[in-house]
Amino acid sequence: MNAILRPVATAASTADFRVAMRHLTGGVSVITAGRGREITGMTVSSVTSLSVDPPALIVSINREASSFPLIKRSCAFGVNILNADQLEIAERFAGKGGLKGAERFAGAEWITGVSGVPLLVGALAALDCEVEEIIERHSHGIVVGRVQEIRNSARSAALAYWHGQYAAVDQREDAARLAESRSGVTC
Ligand SMILES: Cc1cc2nc3c(=O)[nH]c(=O)nc-3n(C[C@H](O)[C@H](O)[C@H](O)COP(=O)(O)O)c2cc1C
Repeated sequence: MNAILRPVATAASTADFRVAMRHLTGGVSVITAGRGREITGMTVSSVTSLSVDPPALIVSINREASSFPLIKRSCAFGVNILNADQLEIAERFAGKGGLKGAERFAGAEWITGVSGVPLLVGALAALDCEVEEIIERHSHGIVVGRVQEIRNSARSAALAYWHGQYAAVDQREDAARLAESRSGVTC
């Protein structure tokens, strides 16, 4: 038997795990899927770089989410890394206000990536990915994306999620604050 797949006996509670995970600061992205009128998307904080060469990333998606079957079927998805001023977009794609599918895309500008998925104009970076593999485990699917197209912006303030709240991470402001807190340190 594959050791990695062996069920693990654990005394860890889901409540404690939730509390522990709240300490993780996550960058906020919007995943998009589908093309034409059959589009949907969702807010995620689980995007992680997998490898640089080849350019590949992973994202963990709940199998109940509306994007999941569409990603599985179309074998493509977009990753839009949000800027600090795109909090409202994050909320729409997290389902706030009961918006579904194509309704979530209103009020923002989108272009079409090479695979046909919508990419957000004004995102810190937008990436068009082909699905390389989906590992379905527990409630989620770990989607491995091979990056086909990258659109980088020169913007520098990211949207993060920490302790159940959105926060802005600003390269210039935070660097200045860090420099200030270090002044007087001699080594
Ligand atoms: C900041 C933030 C991060 C999230 N990260 C994830 C994630 O990584 N994976 C996931 O499956 N859901 C995540 N969610 C929840 C989905 O955005 C939410 O369930 C969404 O409504 C699913 O789309 P659906 O309503 O079309 O099914 C996150 C929500 C928020 C607010």
